[in-house]
Amino acid sequence: MSSGRYTFSTRDDPHAQARAARSQPLLLHSVQLFREIFAVIYRTRDIHTVIEIGVESGMASALHLGLGASAVYGVDPHPDGDVRARFAAMDGMHLVEQASPQALEELPIGDLYVVDGDHNYSVVHREISWILAHAPNAVVVTHDVLWPCARRDQYYEPSPLAADDRHDPTDDGPTVWHDEMTPAGFVGAGSFTAASHAGGERNGVSTAIEDALSSTDGDWRFEIVPAVFGLGVLFRTGDARSATMSRALAVYTESKLLAALENNRIALYTQVLQLQYEAAAHARDSDQLAETVQSQAQQIATLQAALASERASAARARDVARTASSSTLSANNTSPHASAHPASAAASFLRRRLHFVLKER
Ligand SMILES: C[S@@+](CC[C@H](N)C(=O)[O-])C[C@H]1O[C@@H](n2cnc3c(N)ncnc32)[C@H](O)[C@@H]1O
Repeated sequence: MSSGRYTFSTRDDPHAQARAARSQPLLLHSVQLFREIFAVIYRTRDIHTVIEIGVESGMASALHLGLGASAVYGVDPHPDGDVRARFAAMDGMHLVEQASPQALEELPIGDLYVVDGDHNYSVVHREISWILAHAPNAVVVTHDVLWPCARRDQYYEPSPLAADDRHDPTDDGPTVWHDEMTPAGFVGAGSFTAASHAGGERNGVSTAIEDALSSTDGDWRFEIVPAVFGLGVLFRTGDARSATMSRALAVYTESKLLAALENNRIALYTQVLQLQYEAAAHARDSDQLAETVQSQAQQIATLQAALASERASAARARDVARTASSSTLSANNTSPHASAHPASAAASFLRRRLHFVLKER
């Protein structure tokens, strides 16, 4: 059963919630999950033109037309064919295949900006500074203002940033279980890298927003919805509409429940990543062990065949020696002790040979 807001179970369908749960990806990350937050913004502000930086699948872009926008510009330098098709299929959707912040200059001024592109200080600081200067009446929604990007840069790869604009990057990722980066953490797996250290100056999305705000005039408010990596809502205060929006958002931005669920979510998710990493390492070890066992079994089979062949030749040699000894005895009719010499020499040779062969194996 669905309440119109979410799905829950009934006595006739006790598994409805579980089905809904397993239909979700393991990691929720898209801005489209914040539809109800956007609905508050649309109710309290006039939003016609939306500039969305960082489109990915395009699922989050589409929700704006449903909420009342008339034009959505999705900025992403690397859209795939599905995204192009999704944009092309809807009136009012415009795909801008360029990188932000450069692309912003060529677009109409937006009423709403959704900033969710390259999650690092250099790019976000330039994006927010540009928007505050050119669209001071816009609402600016910024994703990833909590862990892991709040105080640690991420760089989409290959990164177009100059070396001076990047911190020392690593392929390792953060985890909430300790403060060091680890290959068992939240890694970009080729899509992005992260600054190898957290905190300090010019590092992370929230630091970029704070610095951009501190160098602008005006009374700006920056609220955070503490869910799904953190959604920041940035807007100018001072009029009744802003106060209404602030009050309407408070149920989300002041929710300790949401914050606790988010912390629990990232703790569980990074625990899963750790277990997956260990399981993959164990699987690699088992594969290696199986290969070693197989190659040793082949060696043993080869050695056993060689040993059997040596034993057979030794047995043949013993027979030859025995035959030679008995014919010498009967021919010379001398004592066995005197005539044993050739046979015992052959036996002694074979013993040495066998000993050598067995030692070699
Ligand atoms: C986290 S995803 C966006 C997810 C999307 N907003 C959503 O919520 O479903 C980040 C996207 O930003 C794009 N991107 C990376 N650098 C960018 C830049 N400089 N300007 C615009 N988009 C960028 C990437 O190609 C990627 O598709």
